[in-house]
Amino acid sequence: MLNVVITGGAGFLGQKLAHELLRRGSLVGPDGKPAEISRLTLFDAAAAAGPQDPRVQVVTGDIGDGASVLRLIGPDTHSVFHLAAIVSAGAEADFDGGYRVNLDGTKHVLEACRAITQHTPRLVFASSVAVYGGKLPKTVTDDTPQRPTTSYGVQKLSGELLINDYSRKGYVDGRAIRLPTIMVRPGKPNKAASTWASSIIREPLSGVDAVCPVRPDSPMACLSPRRTIDAFIRAHDLPAEQFGTDRALLLTGIRVTAGEMAAAVERNKGNRKIGEIKWQPDAAIQKIVDGWPGETRSERAASLGFTTDSGIDEIIQAFIADDLDEQIKSLRSS
Ligand SMILES: NC(=O)c1ccc[n+]([C@@H]2O[C@H](COP(=O)([O-])OP(=O)(O)OC[C@H]3O[C@@H](n4cnc5c(N)ncnc54)[C@H](O)[C@@H]3O)[C@@H](O)[C@H]2O)c1
Repeated sequence: MLNVVITGGAGFLGQKLAHELLRRGSLVGPDGKPAEISRLTLFDAAAAAGPQDPRVQVVTGDIGDGASVLRLIGPDTHSVFHLAAIVSAGAEADFDGGYRVNLDGTKHVLEACRAITQHTPRLVFASSVAVYGGKLPKTVTDDTPQRPTTSYGVQKLSGELLINDYSRKGYVDGRAIRLPTIMVRPGKPNKAASTWASSIIREPLSGVDAVCPVRPDSPMACLSPRRTIDAFIRAHDLPAEQFGTDRALLLTGIRVTAGEMAAAVERNKGNRKIGEIKWQPDAAIQKIVDGWPGETRSERAASLGFTTDSGIDEIIQAFIADDLDEQIKSLRSS
């Protein structure tokens, strides 16, 4: 019987991960054997609305507060998915807040795991391709050096390095996965500098106009939520030996430009009346996005069984199947 914690459990990926973990019902335990999930704790600054399930426990709190994290993660915790974060543009705008949540928060999670002496808990950390920066090749690969040029990227890279060191010492069995842009994100735009990529698909398909702050030829490395959640669970369940000493793994994100996203919305609209995309470049957003890799390709991830989307159409069709009805319903009620 396993007790599993998701930090950031009320967020976009935290909610999707919670649903999938409950659907699967089991994970590999600290002894390396699959075991039933008996409790799933969703920790977040905001109260998670669901899923409604007797195994779910909702806890609100601040990941930046070490005492709260020690109350959350204790001797009966077997696995932690650490997703709580202030996202890219948010961490850029709030320097102190970004370090407190994204770096101190990760350190608190690691320290709480280290305090568990009964077993070695597994930890999956949501890192980001923001760990790359500067002059980048067209395609970022396993060999590309990490030289972040944003506070968020520095905070994520620091988290990865801490996970390597705590794992080396045997305090935790950690794995970090470097996510490209995960889309399509349901709900409203967030503070991520990449938020337009979801907006220009989600809004038009819901019948609403969207503003795109980057040029149509701007590429984005993309992955669907379905593949991402599979990756979190795969990263959790793989034996530690398969990661070796480097616990950080890049995921493959397909290259799609803003213009290709717009064309794919048109192709997949069916008989919906779609909203319009207004192209209004914003120099600040364009600069951040220009600093990111337009594509990522990880042979290491492929060799470990991680998969990627076949193209932007698959990503859009997954959004239509999983989230569009709910999106339109919540627009009507707001
Ligand atoms: N979605 C993406 O495209 C993407 C890409 C790369 C990396 N990531 C990383 O994946 C993780 C999940 O991303 P997401 O898209 O679900 O983001 P999200 O913003 O939807 O979820 C993050 C959650 O963290 C919570 N949080 C923020 N500050 C907190 C605090 N002080 N204490 C407790 N909870 C706090 C927020 O309330 C939110 O629910 C994040 O770590 C993010 O950096 C996401």
